[in-house]
Amino acid sequence: MTMKSSARIFLGLLLSLLFVLASCKHDPDVIPTPPVTPIDNGNGNGNGNGNGNGNGNSASCDPDTAYFQNDVLPLFISNCAMSGCHDAGSHKEGIILDSYQNIMVTGNIRPFRLDGKIMEAITTSDPDDRMPPAPSPTMTSAQINLIQNWISQGALNNLCTAGNCDTSNVTYSGLIVPLMQNQCIGCHNTGNPRGGVNLETYAGVQSVALDGRLFGSVNWDTGISAMPKNSNKMADCEIAQIRIWIQNGSQNN
Ligand code: HEC
Repeated sequence: MTMKSSARIFLGLLLSLLFVLASCKHDPDVIPTPPVTPIDNGNGNGNGNGNGNGNGNSASCDPDTAYFQNDVLPLFISNCAMSGCHDAGSHKEGIILDSYQNIMVTGNIRPFRLDGKIMEAITTSDPDDRMPPAPSPTMTSAQINLIQNWISQGALNNLCTAGNCDTSNVTYSGLIVPLMQNQCIGCHNTGNPRGGVNLETYAGVQSVALDGRLFGSVNWDTGISAMPKNSNKMADCEIAQIRIWIQNGSQNN
């Protein structure tokens, strides 16, 4: 081994050590930076280069994979990260559930471990302990399964940007209800309709569809509050599906 290569190895070890030390420093109020970059796991692309820019040619998202950015984060934003609860400002019990880093650190998520406090809170039958608390609806079993699958699959910060978007058969029950359920009704339910908007019922969704605020809010039009609040914009495909459902007469189909 030459002097030069052993020096290089030493430098490499030193850098890794510094990196490990830096990433282990867990001050509860300091969120690790830089932010974890989502990995794109769309089928047919799957190069995992982490730039979050899918090439748009992916065949489809893997139906058995729980994608954090697509599926899991919207559930936390809608059910937990509202003001008064687990947004950055309120941080009840020090828990902030508004981003991957915050969910992992303050929610104490351990990959592959289903015995953590988040799973406990969303699955307990004790009405005093359950999250989200009444009058918010409990998470559906499909939503709980999604979070459970995501943890069992390693709690990755993954994202699928598969290029396909089916806008051919957009129905209220098939598409709009699940979108509302996963991204909106945590803040817009009958018990607590924030901003006076209830998206748990057809009548409530229809009224904001008709007055233009449903599309305006998800499309982040100026003059209307951007929704989902304090979150990323919905996927282009989801916004297109909402637009088409409204254009087709916002029917209860
Ligand atoms: C984290 C809580 C939260 C989530 C999630 C959320 N909203 Fe809201 N929404 C609010 C609050 C609070 C208001 C009242 C206005 C404001 O404070 O911005 C509001 C207002 C609205 C309005 C009225 C906007 C206006 O300018 O009159 C619409 C429409 C709306 N939300 C739709 C949605 C839809 C659709 C979703 C899901 C894609 C969603 N919201 C998700 C909290 C939320």
